Amino acid sequence: MNWKLKASLQKLLHFTKIGDTLNHIPATLKKDYHKNVCLYQAYECLRKFEEIEIETESRNPKKALEIGTGYSLISSVILHLLGFDKVVTVDISKDVSIKTFRKQIQHIDSGDFLERIALQSTFSLTEIKEKVQQLQSFQTLEEVFDFCNIVYIPNYTLSDIEKESTSFDYICSQVVFEHISPVFLVQLFAKMKSWLPENGVAVHTINFIDHFANPGFFQDKNISEFNFLKYSDETWKYWAGNDIAYTNRLSYVYYLELCETNNLTVIDFKGENYRIHNPLSVSEIHSDIIKKYKKLQNVEDLCKYQRGTLIFKH
Ligand SMILES: C[S@@+](CC[C@H](N)C(=O)[O-])C[C@H]1O[C@@H](n2cnc3c(N)ncnc32)[C@H](O)[C@@H]1O
Repeated sequence: MNWKLKASLQKLLHFTKIGDTLNHIPATLKKDYHKNVCLYQAYECLRKFEEIEIETESRNPKKALEIGTGYSLISSVILHLLGFDKVVTVDISKDVSIKTFRKQIQHIDSGDFLERIALQSTFSLTEIKEKVQQLQSFQTLEEVFDFCNIVYIPNYTLSDIEKESTSFDYICSQVVFEHISPVFLVQLFAKMKSWLPENGVAVHTINFIDHFANPGFFQDKNISEFNFLKYSDETWKYWAGNDIAYTNRLSYVYYLELCETNNLTVIDFKGENYRIHNPLSVSEIHSDIIKKYKKLQNVEDLCKYQRGTLIFKH
């Protein structure tokens, strides 16, 4: 489907109160949707955590912050199972439900996830299995939150987070930063600098591609995954300047600049290309895109990676 058609549909949906929910429905109709979300969330949460080395003995008591909960509570629950005493998870919208949680948590014991969690956790495998059994029996979100000491803050502000804590040993996000405006990213990175204690670590997975090229019924198969870099800010605002479609069109270079500005120490950045790579030529990239960077040495870098994991500490 031509991306402008999807963009027009999303613009229409954005004017309805339940636009975000309606936009999410096509994805949920896929076979094994809840099982796949559970396994993907568990895999990604563990993969990010395994990137860092924290001695389990020195991890108690510790707090974790997840930015951008989305529709699934699986990552927050995994953080609890890894041994965090308190998990704060925040989003600009309120999308979690016990119905979805119950459908997803029943798949958490597939594969070797529980064994992998136990290897990193302050809990033993037996304790983790007992916890999972209890989690699978809960009928309300309050039971889940109390049991795991999860604080879920939808429609959050930065001061809501600070009411819970001003120090987080681990801060993570999964494909969220690309949906955040540069103005808020600047504030968030400054806060992360202040929230991370000396031994604290942040691990963020960021998707850098044009979401109109994402797979699915609405995918535009005729565009490069970096198509959105061709347009001026004004044109892009016209097509995708609404809460459903918004992406900031920033590459990994921008996040590295944010770390540098805030004096955050980058431990690693792992860039990936997970699908056929169709970078734009330098002349196709709009000058408004290039202007977003303080010191961009190679314009080609803007299309270098489709996704990446940024790991930094105080
Ligand atoms: C692609 S979803 C990812 C959700 C979840 N992390 C996952 O992996 O399924 C992006 C999420 O980022 C949230 N989001 C957008 N702007 C945000 C912000 N400023 N702070 C926190 N979350 C935000 C959206 O509401 C949405 O839930």
